[in-house]
Amino acid sequence: MEKTNLYGVHPFYLAMEDAGNAHGFFLLNSNAMDVVLQPAPALTWRTIGGILDFYVFLGPDPGSVIQQYVEVIGYPAMPVYWALGYHLCRWGYNTSDSTWEVVKSLRGYRIPQDVQWNDIDYMDQFMDFTLDSTKFATLPDLVKDLHAHDQRYVMILDPGISSTQPNGSYWPFDEGLKRGVFIKDAEGKPLIGKVWPGLTAYPDFSDDVTHEWWYDNLRRFHEQVPFDGLWIDMNEPSNFLDGSTNGCPSNSLENPPYTPGVLGGLLRAKTVCATAQQKQSIHYNMHSLYGLMEAKASASALKRLTGKRPFVISRSTFPGQGMYSGHWLGDNRSVWKDLYTSIAGMLTFNLLGIPLVGADICGFGEEAQEEMCVRWTQLGAFYPFTRNHNSINTKPQDPTAFSPLARTAMKQALLLRYSLFPVLYTLFHHAHVRGHTVARPLMFEFPKDVRTYGIDKQFLWGKSLLVTPVLEEGVDYVDGYFPEGIWYDYYTGDCVRSKGEELRLRAPLDKINLHLREGSVLPTQTPNLTLSVSSGQPLHLVSSLSDDGSASGDLFWDDGETVDTYETNQYAYIIFNVSKKVMTSQVLHSNAEATFITVESATFYGVKAKPSRVLVNYQDAQFTYRTNQVLTVQDLGLNLSQNFTISWM
Ligand code: NOJ
Repeated sequence: MEKTNLYGVHPFYLAMEDAGNAHGFFLLNSNAMDVVLQPAPALTWRTIGGILDFYVFLGPDPGSVIQQYVEVIGYPAMPVYWALGYHLCRWGYNTSDSTWEVVKSLRGYRIPQDVQWNDIDYMDQFMDFTLDSTKFATLPDLVKDLHAHDQRYVMILDPGISSTQPNGSYWPFDEGLKRGVFIKDAEGKPLIGKVWPGLTAYPDFSDDVTHEWWYDNLRRFHEQVPFDGLWIDMNEPSNFLDGSTNGCPSNSLENPPYTPGVLGGLLRAKTVCATAQQKQSIHYNMHSLYGLMEAKASASALKRLTGKRPFVISRSTFPGQGMYSGHWLGDNRSVWKDLYTSIAGMLTFNLLGIPLVGADICGFGEEAQEEMCVRWTQLGAFYPFTRNHNSINTKPQDPTAFSPLARTAMKQALLLRYSLFPVLYTLFHHAHVRGHTVARPLMFEFPKDVRTYGIDKQFLWGKSLLVTPVLEEGVDYVDGYFPEGIWYDYYTGDCVRSKGEELRLRAPLDKINLHLREGSVLPTQTPNLTLSVSSGQPLHLVSSLSDDGSASGDLFWDDGETVDTYETNQYAYIIFNVSKKVMTSQVLHSNAEATFITVESATFYGVKAKPSRVLVNYQDAQFTYRTNQVLTVQDLGLNLSQNFTISWM
């Protein structure tokens, strides 16, 4: 729904000033609030409680504002490698066997897939920590099979715990009552609302006792179904009733002297009562923190269970949540407009310190049309978090559900993403360590170019990879803005010299336009069907030279799943520099992992004249040179853990 509160709260703004300067502002406050955009350059904030804890970030450029903000709220976690693969989900697979069929079908067409998901249909009567033992009887076998193929399994959990099962028959509720983990009503009894399983109690994640109970539930279920990650939904917390089965008391917390413009005009609308009691405070103060606290409990439980980096995707979010989870943008529709607006959504969460974000690819509600689904998969291949998800009672929209042409185009987009994994992984490292954005608005790199400020149809990965997706029906071209400088077609190396112009690009159905900004070195990799299998594949360095012949880039590499590899020095970090016809690779930090991969080829865009010789570590090497000024050196077999040079003359 537009123009009303929905899933999360982020009382932060980033503002552009004159001459490319920026500042940011953060009000660390979890109470219900209005934010009103004034006609003058002004915002009015009206909060109805809490502390007025303000932060001002002076930048001066937009990227620095975000780094300063993220330093305050907490750096996003380094994701487990497979988080960056292709995820497939839907509501209404109906059985584990039909879920399995889709997985096999993707394998059959050799379409990359790292993760298969299930929605609430796997549960017995939609109750958390239960399995529908008829329709999903083979789920444990499916998970085993996924693991045998280096794939992973993620399932949904909602916070609402069924409160109506016969005594002694549903451990999560019985045990929760015993340990006192549920949110209480104003009289101190468990507050009862209604979600998918019917009447439910809500765990109070502000209490450590609840975290332990949540972990125990996960551990018990994990013995049955060894899931790898968690999807936490409905955690605003969402309620089909207003308040509870008994309504809410009538007092100044439920009906404050001023109610911000929230959905339904009531604080309790579609959630629990404001007067509900949590360990740390009343729900009036805690409401906006529910998803954050559930994400924290879920991430720490997963870490204990698997011993690896936890993977959690949450619907509700609050500042600092990037430390525990990523986010999907919630229920969109299979329409072109939602494809377009997903770019702004994705960029916004990158500004908010939750870079692991994406929209439901091909749209959640309504039927996905083939052409739109192809375009959406192409854009989705550049969401930091890439998941196709679909609503119940709609036709399948996974890549295998479409014509060979469409299917092949989707496969190609996903293979492209997989080939860029080293780039993406390194960007996440910089998000984790410094608060950089992964998917980035153009204005972050060109803050002095005011024409970039309003761009919401294109974006960058990091500082140099420009993505220009098609967002309209029935076209085979796309218009994109190119800030001043040299841009190279990622696929061909053809060069565009822009003075800051809008250009029309060819965009047949099987192509997403990608351009490489001058001055960068991208580490790419031969893709495979899962990132685990890809991980040993050789690297290909792609360099885009500036007019003065320079370029630079880097690579962060580790085992992809051990917790805190950077913090405990179990990683490799390599920088690449090109200057005066010499590329050097310099290992700034090394680790055994990196020795397993080799650099197989290096391509240089913008080499102005055909070289007479190319030397690799001072030995003559074969090369090719194309008239569009592209130099390629192949069969390098260079060990990544050792410094090397490639030069030409
Ligand atoms: C709401 C979520 O936003 C959606 O993604 C999910 O499919 C349904 N709940 C059912 O669990």
